[in-house]
Amino acid sequence: MNIAVDGPAGAGKSSIAKLVAKKLGIIYVDTGAMYRTLALGCHKNNIDVDDESSVSDAIRGFEIEIAYKDGVQNIFLNGENVSETIRQEEIGKKASSVARYSAVREKLVEMQREMAGKQSVIMDGRDIGTVVLPDAELKIYLTASVEVRADRRFKELKDKNVPADLEEIKKDIETRDYQDMNREVSPLKKADDAIEVDTSDMTIDEVVDKICSLYEKN
Ligand code: CDP
Repeated sequence: MNIAVDGPAGAGKSSIAKLVAKKLGIIYVDTGAMYRTLALGCHKNNIDVDDESSVSDAIRGFEIEIAYKDGVQNIFLNGENVSETIRQEEIGKKASSVARYSAVREKLVEMQREMAGKQSVIMDGRDIGTVVLPDAELKIYLTASVEVRADRRFKELKDKNVPADLEEIKKDIETRDYQDMNREVSPLKKADDAIEVDTSDMTIDEVVDKICSLYEKN
C-alpha cells in the first residue's frame, strides 16, 4: 500500500510524510532529495543547469544511492553522503532547473518506482500521484498560502542559524512554484483522485492525523 504526497515548496510535505511513515511503520521516500542530488552533482562539476544536453550527459556519470539509518533517508552521490549538502537554497533552485529535463526524470522515476514496488512507502514530490505512482492507494495534495510557506521556510533557516531574508524567500518560492507548475514534463499538479489538504491553518499533528485516518479508512 503506497501513499503519494505532492505539493509546492514549503507546504510541509517532508515533515508530515516523515511523521506519517513513523506512525504507520512504512518507509518515507523523499524524491526531492534525488533531484537535489543531481543538481549538486552539476553544481560541483560546473555544469550549466540551463543547458539540457550538458546536464543530460553529466548525469549519466552520477550514481545515486539511498540507504536508511534508523528510519532516516540518507542519500549518496558517487559514494559520498550528501544528505546535508543538498539542503542549501541554491541547490534547491538548481534542482527545480534540472527537474525540467526528461533524461533527469527518467533516471529518477525508475528508481522511485523500484523502491515503492519493494515495500509500502509514503513518497513525496511533485509528480508522485500523477506520474510515478498513479495507482497509489492514497493520494494527498498538500498546499498552503505563499505567505505561510515562506514564513515556515524562514523559521526553518533561522533555527539552523542560516541567514535568511523573508521577502527573498517568498520570491524564490514563487519562482520555483511557477517553474514546477509550468514545465512541459511532469508539471506539478493535483491528480484527479488526490485529496487536497490546505495546511495554512493546521498544525503538523493535525495534518498527520488526517492522513493516517484517511489511510486507515482505505
Ligand atoms: O523541499 P522543497 O519543497 O524545497 O523541494 P524538494 O521537494 O526538495 O524538491 C526540489 C525541487 O525538485 C522541486 O522544486 C522540483 O522542481 C523538483 N522535484 C520534482 O520535479 N519532482 C519531484 N518528484 C520532486 C522534486
